[in-house]
Amino acid sequence: MIPIGREDRVFILTGAGISAESGLPTFRGMNGIWRTYRVEEVASPVAWARDPKLVWEFYSERRRRHHTVQPNPGHYALARLEEELGDRFFLCTQNVDRLHEMAGSRRVIHMHGKIFESRCERGCGRPPFDDDWTLENGAEIPLCACGGKIRPHICWFGETPFEMERIAAALENCTVFMAVGTSGVVEPAASFVRYARARWDNVRTCYIGPEEPSNRAFFDEVFLGPSGEVLPQLFATEKSATDLHG
Ligand code: APR
Repeated sequence: MIPIGREDRVFILTGAGISAESGLPTFRGMNGIWRTYRVEEVASPVAWARDPKLVWEFYSERRRRHHTVQPNPGHYALARLEEELGDRFFLCTQNVDRLHEMAGSRRVIHMHGKIFESRCERGCGRPPFDDDWTLENGAEIPLCACGGKIRPHICWFGETPFEMERIAAALENCTVFMAVGTSGVVEPAASFVRYARARWDNVRTCYIGPEEPSNRAFFDEVFLGPSGEVLPQLFATEKSATDLHG
């Protein structure tokens, strides 16, 4: 159990592992996405410049797959915690899926973008927009009014993640930092735990997942197990205490 007190401010970072029990592959696990595809061919500005159709084939396959999945108890547990803690709760995800929102989470920071959003490659001023277009045989990549090609609104390798200022501010203020289902190898997210600890000695740091992450040394506690099983019974808040003891 992780006790969460009246004064606590909770920062949660999620990764691909929280969506594994919903049927979405992780990136580096068995049958992971990066075991099937090469990052440099489908998820970088160089890949886009070289072969934008191959990039759209990759994201089109992922969009089709994302239409078929539902949130799992891990997503619901975090939505409930948000409801209880209100603005003492901050959820940052590396995931591009919409399972947190489908489970009822209201304020989700997608630092790597969203699978069902696209934008103009030229940054012509048109904001990112909702989009579930997929590349079908023989189709052409849609063009923006400015003539630029439409690309997925995803943070590719070599690009800067979104909302970093809001994330840094929340890290500076958190008293509890939790990471769920992330291997701890991709920056800058892998350093968030260190950043939180560097800001405040007493911050409590915990990891939830079936195996220890690469940045395990920075976590006070590790709860080993699938997040869909661990998260629903992890938080001891006032409300859960009241519910329990009346
Ligand atoms: N519950 C919780 N965690 C799980 C589960 C589960 N049921 N199943 C697997 N995991 C854990 C694995 O142990 C692993 O540590 O999820 C982690 C997934 O790690 P990665 O595949 O490396 O995914 P992630 O850390 O989210 O990747 C970070 O890298 O490829 C880029 O942009 C992409 O956002 C992604 C980033």
